[in-house]
Amino acid sequence: MLRECVIVDGVRTANCRAHAEKGWFRKRTPDELLTAVFDALFERNKAVKPEDVEAVFIGCANQSGMQHDIGRLAWLAGGYPESVPANTICQQCPSGMSAIEHAARAIMCGEGEIYVAGGVEDMLNVKMGQGMEPPVRLYQRYNPMELPMGPTAEKVAGMWKISSEDMIEMAYYSHKRAAAARDAGKFKDEIVPVEGENEKGEKIIVDRDQWIRDNISRESMAGLPTPFKDGGVITAAFSSPLTQGACALLLMERQKADALGLSYHLRYKGGAMAGCDPTIMGIGPIYAVRKLLDRFNLTPGDIDVVELNEAFASQALACLRELGFEENAPFKKTNLWGGALALGHPLGESGARIVITLNNIMKKDLPDARYGLAALCGGFGNANATLWEKV
Ligand SMILES: CC(C)(COP(=O)(O)OP(=O)(O)OC[C@H]1O[C@@H](n2cnc3c(N)ncnc32)[C@H](O)[C@@H]1OP(=O)(O)O)[C@@H](O)C(=O)NCCC(=O)NCCS
Repeated sequence: MLRECVIVDGVRTANCRAHAEKGWFRKRTPDELLTAVFDALFERNKAVKPEDVEAVFIGCANQSGMQHDIGRLAWLAGGYPESVPANTICQQCPSGMSAIEHAARAIMCGEGEIYVAGGVEDMLNVKMGQGMEPPVRLYQRYNPMELPMGPTAEKVAGMWKISSEDMIEMAYYSHKRAAAARDAGKFKDEIVPVEGENEKGEKIIVDRDQWIRDNISRESMAGLPTPFKDGGVITAAFSSPLTQGACALLLMERQKADALGLSYHLRYKGGAMAGCDPTIMGIGPIYAVRKLLDRFNLTPGDIDVVELNEAFASQALACLRELGFEENAPFKKTNLWGGALALGHPLGESGARIVITLNNIMKKDLPDARYGLAALCGGFGNANATLWEKV
């Protein structure tokens, strides 16, 4: 019989601008960010010793340079036991969600009882696409100009007829809700304070997300440049920004958590990956979510809370509309504490980060809600979705 996997805890660093002069984490490295979240997990859950962990799964989209095998190397660099193995996983943006699925499935199959799963991306030290050598035959199959993320967002905006006005509303509420959640202290439980430097070079303790624009206005978003296409619609305001950040969850077999006296709110119900045309990769969640809900005979109406990564406003709106979740912002049940347009999107981290936030939203704001869904698209047309149920 399958066992149950529950979320015992989840922590993340703040998400900071991947900017050489302005980014608060510009002097941090990806292994340091990961070590900070590992440290916090064990500090907060003293009943669990690092050597009790069966394995560590870490998602990272670009595993070159400082992020080569970052899961294992950060674990060792942080002084953690050699006997605990780590597996760094790549599924582009859904990498962190993939890491969670690996752990959850292992727990359900009885391979182990305690896992750490998370993600990291430092888009300053390891740039998007850095060191990548795509197969020549890929470019015989697809137009190379259509494969980068920005152009895919433009194509989706055109095909799904997403207007600039609707994207402005979405970005506006993403920032407003993120700011409101931050000001109400809702991220306090998930953000681990880490030392950084402010814009003036002074040392600061970074315990809040850097990208949230407190002075957001609809007017300031009108008419921004469209870097991905001449005469296009996707601007910086409608794109998730380049970010540094890391996160990790403690996932456990339910009876083990009970035996250790650890509490939990959600259990893993299931996950589904789906592929789609890489030139419109942003609509992948439509297929992954449908597959997942069909498997459990659920409809979008059964889902109480949704976390859908806002890689770009166009793709997120296309997915929410096609799936029948929402038409326009302000959303009723999606990204209630803001989304990646405001919070940032450290690629391989976000798939795990949205599960941490989903868990906290359901625990704090909607304790009676039964089902939560987290989903995201990924470069080259790989999407992922996970379903969580209140225990
Ligand atoms: C879109 C992109 C190219 C913009 O890069 P950039 O020009 O360095 O962007 P910034 O966020 O610094 O914004 C530039 C300017 O636009 C304006 N701007 C951006 N967002 C804004 C908003 N929400 N409201 C008002 N103005 C905004 C500001 O004037 C900003 O300047 P500032 O730094 O002084 O505030 C970059 O964020 C990007 O590539 N994003 C996509 C990343 C990606 O593909 N991820 C994977 C997804 S699958």
